[in-house]
Amino acid sequence: MGWNASRKRLAAGVHAPRPSPHSLSLPLSSRLRREHPVTDLPWYTSFAPERGTLPPRAWTAESDAARLPLGGDWAFRLSPAADAADTSFTEPGFDAGAWGTVAVPGHWVLQGKDAEFGRPAYTNVAYPFPVDPPHVPDENPTGDHLRRFDLPDGWPAEGGAVLCFDGVESCARVWLNGTELGWFKGSRLAHEFAVGELLRERDNVLAVRVHQWSSGSYLEDQDQWWLPGIFRDVTLLHRPEGAPGDFFVHASYDHVAGSGELRVDCDVPGRVRVPELGLDLATGESVTVPVEPWSAEVPRLYEGELTAGGERIGLRIGFRSVYVEDGVLKANGRRILFRGVNRHEFHPETGRTLDRETMRADVELMKRHNINAVRTSHYPPHPAFLDLCDSYGLWVIDEGDLETHGFEELGWRGNPVDDERWTPALLDRAARLVERDKNHPSVVLWSLGNECGTGAGLGAMARWIRDRDPSRPVHYEGDRSCPDVDVYSRMYPPHAEVAEIGRREDGGPEHRGELPFLLCEYAHAMGNGPGGLSEYQRLFETYERCQGGFVWEWIDHGLVHPVHGYGYGGDFGEELHDGNFVCDGLLFPDRTPSPGLVEYKKVIEPVRIAPGARPGSALVANLHDVADLSGLAFRWEFLADGRMVGEGPLDVPPVPAGERVEVALPEPPPHPAGAETVWTVRAVLAASTVWAPAGHEVAWGQLPVTPARPPASLGAGVRAVVEGDRIVLGPVVLDARTGTPLCVGGLAVAGFGLDVWRAPTDNDEGAPWQPDTRHGPLWRTLGLHRMRHRTVAVEPDTEGLTVRTRVAPAARDFGLAVTYRWTSDGTAARLAVSVVPEGLWPAPLPRLGVRLGLPAALDRVEWYGGGPGEAYPDTRAAARLGLWKSTVAALQTPYVRPQENGARVDTRRLELTGGDAGLRIEGESAFWFTARRWTHAELDAAGHRPDLKPGDTLWLNLDHALHGIGSHSCGPGVLPEHRLEASSASFALILTPTGR
Ligand code: GAL
Repeated sequence: MGWNASRKRLAAGVHAPRPSPHSLSLPLSSRLRREHPVTDLPWYTSFAPERGTLPPRAWTAESDAARLPLGGDWAFRLSPAADAADTSFTEPGFDAGAWGTVAVPGHWVLQGKDAEFGRPAYTNVAYPFPVDPPHVPDENPTGDHLRRFDLPDGWPAEGGAVLCFDGVESCARVWLNGTELGWFKGSRLAHEFAVGELLRERDNVLAVRVHQWSSGSYLEDQDQWWLPGIFRDVTLLHRPEGAPGDFFVHASYDHVAGSGELRVDCDVPGRVRVPELGLDLATGESVTVPVEPWSAEVPRLYEGELTAGGERIGLRIGFRSVYVEDGVLKANGRRILFRGVNRHEFHPETGRTLDRETMRADVELMKRHNINAVRTSHYPPHPAFLDLCDSYGLWVIDEGDLETHGFEELGWRGNPVDDERWTPALLDRAARLVERDKNHPSVVLWSLGNECGTGAGLGAMARWIRDRDPSRPVHYEGDRSCPDVDVYSRMYPPHAEVAEIGRREDGGPEHRGELPFLLCEYAHAMGNGPGGLSEYQRLFETYERCQGGFVWEWIDHGLVHPVHGYGYGGDFGEELHDGNFVCDGLLFPDRTPSPGLVEYKKVIEPVRIAPGARPGSALVANLHDVADLSGLAFRWEFLADGRMVGEGPLDVPPVPAGERVEVALPEPPPHPAGAETVWTVRAVLAASTVWAPAGHEVAWGQLPVTPARPPASLGAGVRAVVEGDRIVLGPVVLDARTGTPLCVGGLAVAGFGLDVWRAPTDNDEGAPWQPDTRHGPLWRTLGLHRMRHRTVAVEPDTEGLTVRTRVAPAARDFGLAVTYRWTSDGTAARLAVSVVPEGLWPAPLPRLGVRLGLPAALDRVEWYGGGPGEAYPDTRAAARLGLWKSTVAALQTPYVRPQENGARVDTRRLELTGGDAGLRIEGESAFWFTARRWTHAELDAAGHRPDLKPGDTLWLNLDHALHGIGSHSCGPGVLPEHRLEASSASFALILTPTGR
């Protein structure tokens, strides 16, 4: 079948025919005749997706055919417009001596000195050019790239060759040795050209013209940086005579019979061998054999090979079947639960150009944090990433390179997915997604794309995909009527709605009610947060239909910036941008896990450890989809007042997935009488795996035994002595006029008072499209960041001192009546605080506690409480009770845009030391603390990390309560149970100076 016919079938929604081996070595002239209709649009703004490329095919890294990577330094010239320079650079004799250089793969805007090649730009939804499809502005940065190469010694004389581009943003026109090969769009898709007859042994000249903007840009409006360039590999591949054009490994698993069925289709006859299974069969032939299935938890791969013509291709076969049964998404007969993340490809220096080690780092970090699934938002990733997912074990939703979100702001007028002129381009994207990645067992769902609204083009894509690969369900989130999909998918619904969907009470089209449900995005990890993960997880574990979700997103896209450390939208001089909305990941840009990732790891742990029904026992629930517990070793620790007084192994049987067991704990080891005691039970890897060493902690639980004692009472009270303008009460000296402490045991105290403010987090600030529920802006409007204090009374007595105040914002008649009661035994001081709201409080409080400024010399912190990391009311699952140490500097969480951070939960005792000074603080009930060398105002004013400069004061907040975090930067706000409403409260702290 000729090219035109195959394209027609493709456009008609019929799967592309496999290219014959000959199609790879067709004479160039006949290939170039397969043109799309000529229009008067320049090629880069035509509706056509490509001209002259080969049909898409399976990607493999494991072929014995010769290959020549063409990465490295390429000569480079940047022009301001598509037609500013002619194409004479494509001629073999062209002298590019005056040109600059860029690294390929790479984005030109991230290279060169002093932005000589332009700058990156970030927008979320808005197109950074007029919406005038398929046209683009005259200002269209254009990069001409040149690379000379010789064929390596031993490059076979026979056969053909193809030139493969794994990714070019946004389009490329290609010449080899002065002959134009064609052009293509589809930035994160592979494109190949047959080049055999054009190759020379020496001094080949490869010329590539790349425009930043093309008609393809309308289909690539993903929320990320716009980064033009040849950003993935360019490779010359030898194609031996008779070598496959394409092959399709079908490897399903029958969980009832315990067998796998294997068939490898190939466009040329060949043999398939799988030595471990004793298989040697012809391509196209099916065989059924007993096998172990592939899953994300047990990623069993069988090594095999396909030989056809002169080529041997390595196969990594994973047998697995994924399907919807009774409204539930299953793999190999079992319901699967996605503990997922959305992953954009990102590196803070190289943008979307990632080396293999970075890809591996992502996969290892995911596995170490109990993540079992990835949505490749919002385009097919570098193909090597999927190899890693196959071998490490991750379920993958592989997404097409398609988003037209910017049309939403226009009421979806002119949306390409609902305009048939674009359908060939959409089908091209669908085909390039499926054909390249179809042999990866890790890929379990195809996703049409992201945020494209609705339209017939999506239906055409879904039909094409189903026809070509009926073995995988189809995903798309943007059409709630779900006409084209096999799963009902949503982003950012609140918990209550998830519960309703779980109960199948959400209404909607009838067939939707029969689909499994997943959250392709939830829990927006922007800045501090996301909050509410535990509550979502409970829903996924309660409702069979709710099959988990994918946190938005994996990594902050902060680009290295000369002044700001990590830059975000607007930091590179963009006219139009969306600020730090691009920094919303579970990893900081340098891939350091944020507290959000640590929390997520705990929430999604595949083993849950809780108190057993019998005293002295632990309940161990195996929440894996597939694996039993034989891969884990269990250990117990016994803590007395936070100190470990004994530890040992705990025998836990190899409970199957989905089951639980109650195990007896040993006799508690000897420990101080009256101490607060707790068991910690930990599940660790019994043996090293590819992703973590033996001993790596997978899950843990704490089982309280004896509750905490309140701190010892202070004994007989001392009298408050008035000495001029001061009042002395044991170790505390206070201002006689205001009743505020001036020093505690020789430590100067500044800025004491009730504190309700925090530098709003991104989730406090909320999303612009939810204006009525954004607490950050509301708090500022109410004036909570500039509360005024009025001293009502300072009343010394024989047993202490009472200070009454009123705290309220300007221009408002609501406030807080605050009473401080100071007492002392001469050595320590007790501060009891009681707060009564007055008037009508229209908003929850950010925090409720006291603040004091202490000398910055106190730079070391030790506490008995929750740790080691940050925690807030709805992000506290990962905090475990213990005795923790830190420096003040290390308590800070370096969010790319500074904001409230670093609170520690459930503190029983806190000790600050430094130099000769020291202060111990005990809570009569558990308290929260934060300690930092800048004020809330300084934290609030900072736009980037380097703006924060440590001052001379250590600002210590001792909080009775905090408002939760939520996920309102893109999703729901703080759940009612985690809101801090203004209501009466009282709490007490004991302050003991400990310095020498
Ligand atoms: C979603 C979108 C993502 C990202 C996210 C917010 O609507 O699919 O690409 O923009 O919101 O960060």
